[in-house]
Amino acid sequence: MSDNINKTGITIACAACGEKFNDLTALATCSKCGGLLDITPALPALCSEELQNLFDSRVSITAMRGSAVGRSGVWRFRELVLPISDADIVSHPEGNTPLLERPAISKFAGVKNLLIKHEGFNPTGSFKDRGMTVAVTQAKRCGATAIACASTGNTSSSLAAYGAQAGIPALVMVPAGRITMGKLAQTVAYGARTLLVRGDFDDCLRLVRESSEKLGVYLANSLNPFRIEGQKTIMFELLQQLAWQSPDWVALPAGNLGNTSAFGKALREAQRLGLINRIPRLLSVQASGAAPFAHDFADNFAKRTSVRAETIATAIRIGDPASWDRAVAAIRFTNGVVTSVSDEQIMQAKQVIDASGVGCEPASAASVAGVRELVARGIIAPHESVVAMLTGHILKDPEKLLNTNDAYGHAAVNAPIEIDATLSAVERVLQSATKA
Ligand code: F0G
Repeated sequence: MSDNINKTGITIACAACGEKFNDLTALATCSKCGGLLDITPALPALCSEELQNLFDSRVSITAMRGSAVGRSGVWRFRELVLPISDADIVSHPEGNTPLLERPAISKFAGVKNLLIKHEGFNPTGSFKDRGMTVAVTQAKRCGATAIACASTGNTSSSLAAYGAQAGIPALVMVPAGRITMGKLAQTVAYGARTLLVRGDFDDCLRLVRESSEKLGVYLANSLNPFRIEGQKTIMFELLQQLAWQSPDWVALPAGNLGNTSAFGKALREAQRLGLINRIPRLLSVQASGAAPFAHDFADNFAKRTSVRAETIATAIRIGDPASWDRAVAAIRFTNGVVTSVSDEQIMQAKQVIDASGVGCEPASAASVAGVRELVARGIIAPHESVVAMLTGHILKDPEKLLNTNDAYGHAAVNAPIEIDATLSAVERVLQSATKA
């Protein structure tokens, strides 16, 4: 497809062979060589201050009284995402997630200036809604009759919800017996056709890619460049919340590497537009049983490896990350670091995050565990400013909430206490609680 003039002004091209695609393409990867597609937005002809003012005007109380699209923390940045009219957009709305400060988490991580951006506050409980609003919008624009994804549970929940809103049937493939109850229940309840695949996430992704190519269903995994465009807004929103002053570091959990890629792309565009004048360093954190990218980083990305993944953090139990090329570019551009942390480190961090009243699912806690690890190794200095991403809500993985401490033989810190229905029983518990 050589004619790439379209009304959105975006350019879609294969990162590997340069083939160009129309902006109404239903393809998620290059039809010629199978490479990843890149979207280049037509950057607005506004100076950085005008652009900042435009984005700020959209968080006013008047804007918040408007339509779902007007209230969305994704579509607030639509000039940098997909400039289309409101009527074409499928929005919950999503985004507008909080930046939190908790001394207990800062102390644990070893940095005083630590902020937590909690993407678990999105409508389906994870950051996936940021990319899904754009991917499902694009599916609707190009007339898709069905949308599919492979998932460890969050992408499937998000696709199920947005597919339901758009009225497009959703087909999801998840590894049988390896996704959490919260995520499976949510996906089923929103009405997606749910396939429990006898295999792991990497098998599911292979299968859904084949289904997309051979059966013509629209692919909603983060291979799809429209997902990346939506996920960029996590970074844009964070920078806006910080008055466009970059922190020194941004830490995030890493699995299939869509988010690492999106953050790198957002920072490149923010710099090009003059929205920021300093690039924060990305810290991508994998679970040590699912850490091919951390392994490749240690080898200066000389080659791409894959592993058979195993970790308690089921969301990032991924052995052959799809967005590898894009993520390498993101780490290089930001002078970033990739590290891995053990399941025990992840669960220790989660316990601190949960007990601070914030809470998150296990995979999310990898970001905080990674910050602590880099402080211990002297790579992050205790005076540096750090933002750690929490990617999923605490209730995504309820099974692990009650038995976390048992997994590593630690004493249960807060086991529920069964009592007789008497005031004296309550009094006894109260006395021991106030003494402790
Ligand atoms: N955190 C959570 C809570 C996730 O669900 C995922 C990915 C990640 C981090 C990793 O992000 O893939 O962009 O590097 N979950 C996908 C899913 C794979 O199917 O829900 P990534």
